[in-house]
Amino acid sequence: KKPKITVIGSINMDLVTSTDKFPEQGETIRGTQFQTSPGGKGANQAVAAARLGANVNMIGLVGEDSFGEQLLTNLHNEDVDVTNVAKQKGTSTGLANIVLSEKDNRIIIIGGANEYVIPSYLEKCKEAIIESDYVLLQFEIPKQTIEYCLEICAEHHIPVIVNPAPAMKLSKKAWKQATYITPNETEKKQLFQNQLDERFIITEGKQGVSYMEDNQPKHVAAHDVEVLDTTGAGDTFNGALAVALAEGRSVTDAIIFANGAAALSVQKIGAQSGMPTKEQVFNFLHKD
Ligand code: RIB
Ligand code: NA
Repeated sequence: KKPKITVIGSINMDLVTSTDKFPEQGETIRGTQFQTSPGGKGANQAVAAARLGANVNMIGLVGEDSFGEQLLTNLHNEDVDVTNVAKQKGTSTGLANIVLSEKDNRIIIIGGANEYVIPSYLEKCKEAIIESDYVLLQFEIPKQTIEYCLEICAEHHIPVIVNPAPAMKLSKKAWKQATYITPNETEKKQLFQNQLDERFIITEGKQGVSYMEDNQPKHVAAHDVEVLDTTGAGDTFNGALAVALAEGRSVTDAIIFANGAAALSVQKIGAQSGMPTKEQVFNFLHKD
């Protein structure tokens, strides 16, 4: 049976400019390529989980503009249930301005419709949340909504993965209500210092993934692959983690699976373009 996953989060259009180097202050340079592609941490995690075989319900908002229309169509084409994705009047769709160089990426987001994903909107979609095997949250929507969602999940015993990206502080109570917390190294430093426990799964890019099991620190190494674009790698990891955990796999197995999915995702430009199917992850992990 397919696991049911609900993702509450952002839906953005990514405006991706590729360049050999970043311009200095006041400098104009020629880039090498431009493309628009579907993104937003919420939508990315939803697409990742759907490609990996889950029944995914997305809760979010787009604006009443052509980007919003395109992003809705994209989610629909990816088999994500968009019953709970509405068009917010009087605002534009969320945007991410991404500058991609060979070494890294730099992203500026404009919240737009994502800022309207408020607790009263969530209230209307409560049914989907309560029926889930797993819930996924990231931090590109208002903080009160995230805290409210954690409250609903705690009350109904629904497990939640909290991906604290970009970093934002929640109440003590809210952090306690998370089943797993998946920061990258920067977010870990900004939010948690040394107060880590067994619920933490830390993604360390090229270094791999660190976590705890049976009170022992554990590590899964990253795969040595050719990297074209790391945008969305964390989202692929989180989407895959949710699918594997919802299927009842152990934390270690789920991390190995998610780590493999993330390795495949970085080999194509665009947050969602390299996201693999379950079969592709399986073949990749068992290739020797
Ligand atoms: O995590 C990657 C995503 O962050 C991009 O798709 C962009 O939209 C930003 O929200
Ligand atoms: Na990609």
